[in-house]
Amino acid sequence: MNKAAIALSILALILSTIAILQMVGLREIEMATSSAEDMFRPARKAEERLTVQMERLHHFADKLYLSTYWENTDLATFYVNKIEGIIEDISFGQYEQNGLEIGALARDMLRGPLDGMAASIQTEEQEAMESAWYELAAACNDCHAVAEREYIQIEAPDKGMYTSQRFMK
Ligand code: HEC
Repeated sequence: MNKAAIALSILALILSTIAILQMVGLREIEMATSSAEDMFRPARKAEERLTVQMERLHHFADKLYLSTYWENTDLATFYVNKIEGIIEDISFGQYEQNGLEIGALARDMLRGPLDGMAASIQTEEQEAMESAWYELAAACNDCHAVAEREYIQIEAPDKGMYTSQRFMK
């Protein structure tokens, strides 16, 4: 191989390395921008994710009811904490519905009933816990009414709805 050929192949090697590095770089930039887009998704997506948060709220509210029904205070406290976490997630999600800031509203409307729920768990009395749960469900339904979702009505679940988890202590 003469010198010119060696120089050319070195040049080709350098150029292909640059091309590969650029492709990798572009992918990284693309990945970074798509996760930035995720943070500013259009309203329709945000609405879908609020429904998912509501599903989670509903799920834990049911389980909270069943644990209080069986006077399982440890489990009930666990679900109160889960519900508080979801309220934080909802605040973080910056959802808007009919011009309402759902996060702030959820904090305001559920704070009192959740504190009441926690206090009732301290009493370890089934009746107190059950009525605190109804207060909580009423707050869920109050917001549904305010948000023009009055047709979504939360009620106490059937006691045997979860056959695959033990609620009794
Ligand atoms: C601050 C207002 C607010 C509060 C508080 C609230 N919700 Fe909602 N909820 C909404 C809105 C708005 C929707 C409709 C979301 C949509 O359009 O997809 C909704 C939808 C739902 C749905 C329908 C989705 C599904 O899975 O079927 C359920 C169930 C639900 N909420 C349960 C609850 C429960 C349980 C609580 C209380 C622990 C609660 N929500 C508290 C505003 C609220």
